[in-house]
Amino acid sequence: MAKPRILVTGGTGYIGSHTVVELINAGYKAVIIDNLSNSNKDALDGIEKITGLRPDFVEADCTDINSLTALFEKYDDIKGIINFAASKAVGESIEKPILYYRNNLNTLMNLLDLMPRFGVKGIVFSSSCTVYGEPDQNPVTEAAPIKKATSPYGNTKQISEEIITDVISSGAPFKSVILRYFNPVGAHPSALIGELPNGVPQNLIPYLTQTAMGIRKELSVFGNDYDTPDGSCIRDFINVVDLAKAHVIAVERMLEDKGEAPIEIFNLGTGVGLSVLELIAAFERATGVKVPHKIVGRRHGDIEKVWADPRHANEVLGWKATTSIEDTMRSAWKWQQHLRETGIM
Ligand code: UD1
Repeated sequence: MAKPRILVTGGTGYIGSHTVVELINAGYKAVIIDNLSNSNKDALDGIEKITGLRPDFVEADCTDINSLTALFEKYDDIKGIINFAASKAVGESIEKPILYYRNNLNTLMNLLDLMPRFGVKGIVFSSSCTVYGEPDQNPVTEAAPIKKATSPYGNTKQISEEIITDVISSGAPFKSVILRYFNPVGAHPSALIGELPNGVPQNLIPYLTQTAMGIRKELSVFGNDYDTPDGSCIRDFINVVDLAKAHVIAVERMLEDKGEAPIEIFNLGTGVGLSVLELIAAFERATGVKVPHKIVGRRHGDIEKVWADPRHANEVLGWKATTSIEDTMRSAWKWQQHLRETGIM
C-alpha cells in the first residue's frame, strides 16, 4: 500500500533535509514548507540526487496561517507532520526573544490548530535535551525533571512541549511524538546535504570543520576547568542520519495507531558522553587533519555535562544510534570539503 504524505516544516534545514531523505527512502511522499531563513534550496537538489525524487516544496513561513491553510488545501493527503521549523541559536534568542517566541510558538500553534480540520493524525516535534538544563545525574532519562530554561530558545522548547500536552489533553484528535535531541552532528555520507550555518558558526562541529579547512584560525575550547575528567564539557554527539531515521519510525508509529499513549517522549542520543577535547581528538584520528585549538574561558550558559539514556527509544521504537563517532566525524569533514569544492564556502 502506498504510504501517505508527510509535511516536513523546516525541511530544507539541517535535520529536516536528512529526515526527508529517510522518509523518501522509506516510501513516504514528502512536502516541505520552509521560509529559507536559515537554509537554501540547494538542499532540494541534494535530496533529489540522493533519493532520485524531488520533494514538493512550498516557500512560505509557518507563522502565516493563510499560507499553511493553502498548503493543506492543495495537499489533501497529508497524514502526518514533522515540525522542524524553528529558530535555534541560543545566543541570538537572548538578544531577540520575541522573534524566538513568535517564530517557534506560532508555528507550532498554527499546525496544531489546522491538524483536525485537515485530518492530520500526528505530529513529531523536535525538542532538545536543553529541557533538562544541568541534569542532576547522567545519563538522563525522560523522567528527569525539567529545569528552568536558561534562554528563550530553551524556553520555547519547554513551552512547546506543554502546548502539545495541553492541546492533546483537551481531546484533540491526533497524536504526538516529542523527540529530545542531544547534540546532532555529521552529515549524509554522500556529502550532498549537511549543516550550513549562516555567518560565524556558534556550534562546535561547524566551527571545528571550518577551522580544519583554514577558514577559521583556531577553535576556542570554552573552558577546561569543569568537573569532568579532562575539564572540558561533555555532550552526547548523535549522528544526524541516525537521528533522521528515528523520525521515520516515530511517524510510522503515530500513523499505525496501535493504541499507544497519545503523547510519547523519547531521548535521542547515543548514550555515550564525549568531552569537547575528546571530540577534537576523534576528528583528528578519523580524518588525519589537525584542528588548531586553544583553551579559553567558559561560555556563559553552557551546561557542564549531559548525555542521554536512550533505552526508552531503543526498547519502544526499536531505534538505536549505530554510526561510530569516527564515521560521523569523517562525514562532517567530507561535507566541509564539498562546500569548498562547490565554492559555497
Ligand atoms: C546548544 C543547545 C541545544 C541546541 C544546540 C544546537 C543548550 C543548553 N544547548 O547545545 O539545545 O540544540 O545548541 O543549536 O541550550 N564549544 C566550544 N567551542 C566552540 C563551540 C562550542 O568549546 O566554538 C563547546 C561548548 O562549550 C559546548 C560544546 O562545545 O560544551 C557543544 O556546544 P554547541 O555545539 O554550541 O552545542 P550546545 O551548547 O551543547
